[in-house]
Amino acid sequence: NMYPNRLEGLDTRLTESILSWERRVNGVQYAPEEIIPTQGVAGAIRLAFPHIMEPGDELLLTDPTYIPYKRIGNTLGKATFFRTIEEEGWTPDIEDLRRKITPKTKALVIIHPQNPTGCLYDEKTLKAIADVAGEHGFPLISDEIYGLFTYEGARFHPLASVAGDVPVITMNSISKHYVATGWRIGHISIHDTGNMIGELKEKLRADRAVAGAIPTPLVYGAMAAYDGPTDHIRGMVERLKERRDLSHRRLNEIPGLSATKPQAAFFIFPKVDDGGPWRDDLEFTRDLKAETRLAVNPGSFYGEQYSVNHFRIPYLPGIDPLNRIFDKLEAFMKSRLG
Ligand SMILES: Cc1ncc(COP(=O)(O)O)c(C=O)c1O
Repeated sequence: NMYPNRLEGLDTRLTESILSWERRVNGVQYAPEEIIPTQGVAGAIRLAFPHIMEPGDELLLTDPTYIPYKRIGNTLGKATFFRTIEEEGWTPDIEDLRRKITPKTKALVIIHPQNPTGCLYDEKTLKAIADVAGEHGFPLISDEIYGLFTYEGARFHPLASVAGDVPVITMNSISKHYVATGWRIGHISIHDTGNMIGELKEKLRADRAVAGAIPTPLVYGAMAAYDGPTDHIRGMVERLKERRDLSHRRLNEIPGLSATKPQAAFFIFPKVDDGGPWRDDLEFTRDLKAETRLAVNPGSFYGEQYSVNHFRIPYLPGIDPLNRIFDKLEAFMKSRLG
């Protein structure tokens, strides 16, 4: 019945489980004080950002980004965006990233692999992002919750492993690995070899004690998860790959829609071509839901410019339900485009 941090042995054991997971699964070595257990990535976001930015500050995000980063940016200061290039599989546009930095930029967030586009950033892109952050002296935040979900054996590089001495705050959780979103178990890992964000690290550690802590009974489950196997994910990825291939093929066969092929995670982010009867993606998704009962998020939730006129499909259902979904979508598009 005690706060987890009051149970010294338990706190230490959980940290050790996370440390060994980072080493074994991601190949990254952290010190115990660089690990902060959290209530999932959502808890990590809530814990970290109030210490990173304040009113007037800017949080630089990819367009599109994962919605909670846009929300926290605008809650605490301002979310600003740089382009990711759809034609190149939604890879970051480093030139645009440079243009969007201002004296108010406090940090840059990447989701890697990406939600909602399924883009997997290669080593060169990650290094380029780290170089820019290093030149401007702000930390990087990397959400790597889909790091183990890559297709065709594509290699995932944790940002911390290529960032050199640029500080990286990585957020991760067991939510996707174990399909255990309800447990609310995750962690922050802090890569800061040059001790450039020592003060921030101390603030996160101070909050770790109670505000962001995993409830004590769940710590036992958390340790089992971090100590547990990850080989089941290979089977998950094989099944997801079939669904990815189907989704990509079917979407590109539907008139008025096109989609780039995701390389990781389990989302696809199709574009709605000009020429339909809708004013914007909000109207498109509303019309789609009213007509077919298919509920999808409009692209503009995820950014402000490049995500507009898109929508997101998580291709988690099996092949048959997915085919039924695409049949409905196809009939809807044909009815609207004439
Ligand atoms: C990129 C990304 N980060 C974080 C989360 C949520 O993570 P958690 O369940 O650990 O809070 C999700 C869930 O969809 C996600 O897509």
